[in-house]
Amino acid sequence: MTVSGRDRLTLHQPYSHNATVARCIARIRPYHPAMETKGATIVITGAASGIGRAMAQRFSADGAGRVVIVDVDGDGADAVAAELGARAEVLDVTDEAAVVELIERTESAFGAIDLWCGNAGVGANGGVELDNDTWNANWNVNVMAHVIAARHLVPRWIERGGGHLLLTASAAGLLTNLGTAPYAVTKHGCVALAEWLAITYAEQGIRVSCLCPQGVRTPMTEADGELAIEVVKAMGMIEPSQVADAVAAGLANDDFLILPHPEVAFYEQRRAGDRQRWLTGMQKLQASLTSPR
Ligand SMILES: NC(=O)c1ccc[n+]([C@@H]2O[C@H](COP(=O)([O-])OP(=O)(O)OC[C@H]3O[C@@H](n4cnc5c(N)ncnc54)[C@H](O)[C@@H]3O)[C@@H](O)[C@H]2O)c1
Repeated sequence: MTVSGRDRLTLHQPYSHNATVARCIARIRPYHPAMETKGATIVITGAASGIGRAMAQRFSADGAGRVVIVDVDGDGADAVAAELGARAEVLDVTDEAAVVELIERTESAFGAIDLWCGNAGVGANGGVELDNDTWNANWNVNVMAHVIAARHLVPRWIERGGGHLLLTASAAGLLTNLGTAPYAVTKHGCVALAEWLAITYAEQGIRVSCLCPQGVRTPMTEADGELAIEVVKAMGMIEPSQVADAVAAGLANDDFLILPHPEVAFYEQRRAGDRQRWLTGMQKLQASLTSPR
């Protein structure tokens, strides 16, 4: 398929200068108000600990109708569900048949899923020397699990005229993450997927948010390699509850990008504005952390 000169102009012009796109946005916004978590049926994957658990606590405190705690860690999921009077579901988010059953089971028990938080994630310390199984595991959990969930939720949401998908990516998906290539690469994929879904289905009432924290004190950061930990500490760690606060505010404001560390927006602008300069800065940071002192 070729793209004509006119199409190229339309696709690449900033939307503030594009009357057609501005008219479309004006048409979409009034009909689909921001996500209201009070009374909503909410599914959260990777909710046995860390950020997922904190979101479950926050949504419950805000009066969510039903919260479903999904995780491969059965004991962890049970504990969070017991604490919140929620339902625990033990499954692997990369198992498509299990995800379909989860959606069907949840909707028959509680009605339509209003908000799906695809939050389960994995990382791996290292670069291209890591084996294919490790790369594939990161790809499957950090990207494909979201593709699978969207494949089965989007048609239901289109039929009903709305639904909200929140994907937990990472600042690594907007910038990079020293010391962990599969994580940085697949989180970029997660951001790209979230953007694509947000653009493609906006007019059918589907909302997408992309959560991109930097360092958060969770079991995942405890398991990080030395280099990643050094970076995260240098940038400042926040608590999972602070991420949940940012999520609640972001959903209420109908934000696509939810940045619990606001400075990430500035770093992203620096990266886009002058890639060479940004790379030089990152190379210096890497060298300062890995060179013998
Ligand atoms: N902690 C951070 O600094 C940080 C920063 C940015 C983004 N994130 C992202 O936040 C999300 C949550 O991470 P966290 O920091 O709370 O870590 P965490 O380890 O506390 O939680 C991750 C949860 O995901 C579950 N999980 C992993 N693979 C799964 C699978 N295949 N199916 C079902 N559950 C699975 C784990 O059992 C665990 O309970 C991840 O996507 C992570 O990449 C974390």
